[in-house]
Amino acid sequence: MKPVATPAPSLSARLKADTAALHEQMHALMEQAQPFADRARYAQFVAAQYHFQRDVEHLFDDPALQAAVPDLQVRGREADALADLADLGAVPGQIDIATATVRMPEALGWLYVSEGSTLGAAFLLKQVQQRLGLDEQFGARNLAAYAEGRAVVWRRFVGFLDQAGDSPQVQEAVLAGARAAFERFGALLRRHFALA
Ligand code: HEM
Repeated sequence: MKPVATPAPSLSARLKADTAALHEQMHALMEQAQPFADRARYAQFVAAQYHFQRDVEHLFDDPALQAAVPDLQVRGREADALADLADLGAVPGQIDIATATVRMPEALGWLYVSEGSTLGAAFLLKQVQQRLGLDEQFGARNLAAYAEGRAVVWRRFVGFLDQAGDSPQVQEAVLAGARAAFERFGALLRRHFALA
């Protein structure tokens, strides 16, 4: 009998599966950090978010990333995070950019982590609203949905991802970028909350 060929998993499916443990680590770190306990702790979270978004938006200048994701102008939350910090009377502090030497296809992995985090942000936004009285216009812009809605913008990104990931080399590079981005967000949380 002829063996049935199983289609290779899409890049988006591989990213989700291969970074599931790293995503779980983000939950554990957030649990330790208790970023919604009060506004001062939340400001530490927003500072971490700001530095991460700065790392990600730095990549938007790469023409190869622009070609792979042609709607970059609707993505990214660096300015939102900075405005939130101003609302909270906080400053981000000085941290070197982590993506100075990152290029495509790794850049796509970094963007995957940032864009994916907009999905979980729906849950975080609810907590910030309920516990801290902040919202998408004041203090919690960085957790707000994009104007077109979270799901629409995410699905469009997944479409771009799956068009980009046709070779094993590209897929491995995107995965490496995603792992580095998760590590970076984890390091920023540890730094801002003085966690081990
Ligand atoms: C406690 C904090 C977090 C919670 C509760 C959370 C929750 C979630 C949830 C529920 C989803 C799936 C949403 C859906 O499929 O509709 C999701 C997806 C995702 N989150 Fe988080 N998240 C958290 C933190 C983070 C952080 C800090 C990052 C990265 C910096 C992150 C990156 C992602 C990514 C990349 C996805 C997309 C997974 C995929 O479908 O490929 N999350 N998150």
